[in-house]
Amino acid sequence: MTTVRKPLIAGNWKMNFDHLQALAFVQKIGWSLNDIKHDLENVEIVIFPPFTDLRSVQTLVDADKLRIGYGAQDVSQHGPGAYTGEIAAEFLQKLGAQYVITGHSERRSYHGESDELIGKKSAAALRQGITPVICVGETAEDLEAHGAAAVPLQQVTAVLAELPENPEVVIAYEPVWAIGSGKAATAAQAQEVCGAIRQKITELRGEAFGEKTRILYGGSVKSENIAEFMKQPDIDGALIGGASLKVEEFTKIAQFQKHITV
Ligand code: PGA
Repeated sequence: MTTVRKPLIAGNWKMNFDHLQALAFVQKIGWSLNDIKHDLENVEIVIFPPFTDLRSVQTLVDADKLRIGYGAQDVSQHGPGAYTGEIAAEFLQKLGAQYVITGHSERRSYHGESDELIGKKSAAALRQGITPVICVGETAEDLEAHGAAAVPLQQVTAVLAELPENPEVVIAYEPVWAIGSGKAATAAQAQEVCGAIRQKITELRGEAFGEKTRILYGGSVKSENIAEFMKQPDIDGALIGGASLKVEEFTKIAQFQKHITV
């Protein structure tokens, strides 16, 4: 059985760009993709701006009919109610967000998020028809102590335990030591772990789920290394931090098919 998984190029802006900067940036991305006649039918592009930018991004995307998806970088596990400072999936859904990042390593380490909480946040997103991009990955210490795949597999298993049957999710494998370090995993290393993740989710949720679920690699992705990652059978896209803040670089990454020579 072979399913065609549409490649997904996702830009995680982290805490960068206020709403005015976001408007200028998204406009430039729109022009740039237009100029290069980017094939959005075959490569999906999604950006993850800060919460305060989402309304502006929505307005621009709608007005200019940009075929760029957008999502949030976090979501509450709760529905609307007395949770000061939190943002409910219901609000994101009203803003047209199609995706939300859950379990990014910066949230795991700076906010102490557990796999159980990440699972609950992902489930809250799913209830509103929003696809969670569930991040997993090992630290340098984990890598040393247990090898690359052990921790990501354990994280995927624990997060999936909180989700309903046959959910629509994306999994992002992001080795923590590769994030923002300029030191990406090799394509072979990334394939090994993404392949193991696909095997694990197939074991847990069946073949159709394993086949349809997109698995991304993240960690120091740039235009020079994207093609190698995208050639791997179990890597369906990338989650990009630093390089997603530069119009030209992000556009070049989205054009990865041009650099692939098989
Ligand atoms: P980076 O970040 O591309 O800057 O390494 C990736 C991420 O944190 O999602």
